[in-house]
Amino acid sequence: MSDPKVRRLSPLDRFLNQADRALRTLSPDTQVHARPSPSLGQADVQMSDEQRQHAAGLMRVNHTGEVMAQALYQGQALTAKLPKIRAEMEHAANEEIDHLAWCEERTRQLGSHTSLLNPLWYGISFGMGATAGLLGDKISLGFVSAVEDQVCGHLEEHLETLPEEDSKSRAIVEQMLEDEAHHSHVALEAGGIRFPAPVKGIMSLVSKAMTKTSYKI
Ligand SMILES: [Fe+2]
Ligand SMILES: [Fe+2]
Repeated sequence: MSDPKVRRLSPLDRFLNQADRALRTLSPDTQVHARPSPSLGQADVQMSDEQRQHAAGLMRVNHTGEVMAQALYQGQALTAKLPKIRAEMEHAANEEIDHLAWCEERTRQLGSHTSLLNPLWYGISFGMGATAGLLGDKISLGFVSAVEDQVCGHLEEHLETLPEEDSKSRAIVEQMLEDEAHHSHVALEAGGIRFPAPVKGIMSLVSKAMTKTSYKI
């Protein structure tokens, strides 16, 4: 039986809620992170312009990835049931807000800006999340796991090419890598299916398009 104290959300309430989340994801300085940035306490070492630009490009890519993670969870929340595991997925979604805020802050510290194409990637990712949600919880959770695995691959690559001097960015990426691997594990444990290689191949085309463009603009 539904709790009479909990007001049912109307379609308009839900639309406004979604619009609020989207605007806050896409506007600078609007996310409150629960955990302090792992970059705190790391030395701010001088880097060449080239190193700084490269690090900023990678952190901009990571930020766009987190924008897409927010959109994915929002899209899924709109269409998926996920009754038993909603709390766990919400925990993951909250950790993504930390990642989003840390990457935004670090990109700015490196003298750059977040990607101009973020609204486009938000829309694409929202659509993919909503579609996965419609296809059922197992597919939806499998999709989360596959996306997280792909993100882990990017983060590992970034750790190979981020300047050694940039211990601040490296600390953020290392913590994100740990969190994303955990998110993938949780989604599979909750019943997500393992996606076949061809589907992962299509997903990696989308992610290549994102990483190539966000690195530059
Ligand atoms: Fe994340
Ligand atoms: Fe994640």
